[in-house]
Amino acid sequence: MIDLRSDTVTKPTEAMLESMREATFGDDSRDGDATVMKLEQMAAERTGKEAGAFMPSGTMANLVAMLTHARRGGEVLVEEGSHTLNAELGGIAAVAGLFYRGIRGRRGAMEVEALREAMRPTLRNQMGTALVWMENTHNRSGGAVLPLDHMRAVCAIAHDNGVPVHLDGARIFNAAISLGLQPSEISQYSDTVCFCVSKGLSAPVGSILCGSGAFIERARAFRRMVGGNMRQSGPLAAAGIVALETMVGRLVEDHQTAKRLADGLHRIDPRLVDPRDVETNLVRVEVKTSGRRAAQWSADLRQKGILASPCDAYALRFVTHRHITPADVDATVSAFADLWKSK
Ligand SMILES: Cc1ncc(COP(=O)(O)O)c(C=O)c1O
Repeated sequence: MIDLRSDTVTKPTEAMLESMREATFGDDSRDGDATVMKLEQMAAERTGKEAGAFMPSGTMANLVAMLTHARRGGEVLVEEGSHTLNAELGGIAAVAGLFYRGIRGRRGAMEVEALREAMRPTLRNQMGTALVWMENTHNRSGGAVLPLDHMRAVCAIAHDNGVPVHLDGARIFNAAISLGLQPSEISQYSDTVCFCVSKGLSAPVGSILCGSGAFIERARAFRRMVGGNMRQSGPLAAAGIVALETMVGRLVEDHQTAKRLADGLHRIDPRLVDPRDVETNLVRVEVKTSGRRAAQWSADLRQKGILASPCDAYALRFVTHRHITPADVDATVSAFADLWKSK
């Protein structure tokens, strides 16, 4: 099987497995663990924040960020296609007691004027803006990278209104590589940021939420509340450290295979994907003109040994990663071409 469903399918490297065997086994929920602390410090340095807290997942890091930033009853302004609004099962409302307002956007970037208009204070009869949210890279928009100018503008609008900003940077290193910047140059436009070591960076588990020292101290209490204290998590953190030390630079290869895939699919039918839209390791493919739904395409591709997930009724998502070679991409394009001909 050629598995293009997600970069979370990447297996730990040999160096990660070795580091896991040698890791410390302190209790992160009691006295702390040296390996976890090292990963948290590295994450804070990479993102230009004071402190970090290791979490089991990106979803939990986002949830804990909401709980820590905002009091119940506030409104979170977020681009309408964002992962947190579409794929985190409403934790924001169900657990954090907050409300989403989706702001229309293009390629993951909220319309700045629409955002400005949506900002509002808390009044006796009005729910006020509690938090502004960005996602970079943007999952549903095919791994689109938010332009730095856009992030600067969004951050300024929020801060002018006294509202904090969170960045869901699950794939911030892909964004950084694509922009040729350090991740901290991206996260400077947010008060807090989280990223995953469990995706293209190949660690088995984990995300780190970063922010000011005081914020992270409070976040640790909310992490405990939602059951995210992992006790002897040194081995997981050890793999995360190797991920940050050795796996960031190679993400460029995933961007190249994604581009190769987009080029191949574009040659089959230009309406499937515009390769110019492919900036990182995600390729969003529009199959509407085939008249068949994405779920059907996904099932047909599986029959040919290729795994890709629907990300909308008529759109598929292909994700390249460390285990996908240029030959795998060529095989995928050829299988897709066969199916396209017989559609
Ligand atoms: C943008 C974004 N945020 C958050 C998450 C959630 O991460 P996790 O699967 O570790 O909960 C994902 C997962 O794909 C994502 O793409």
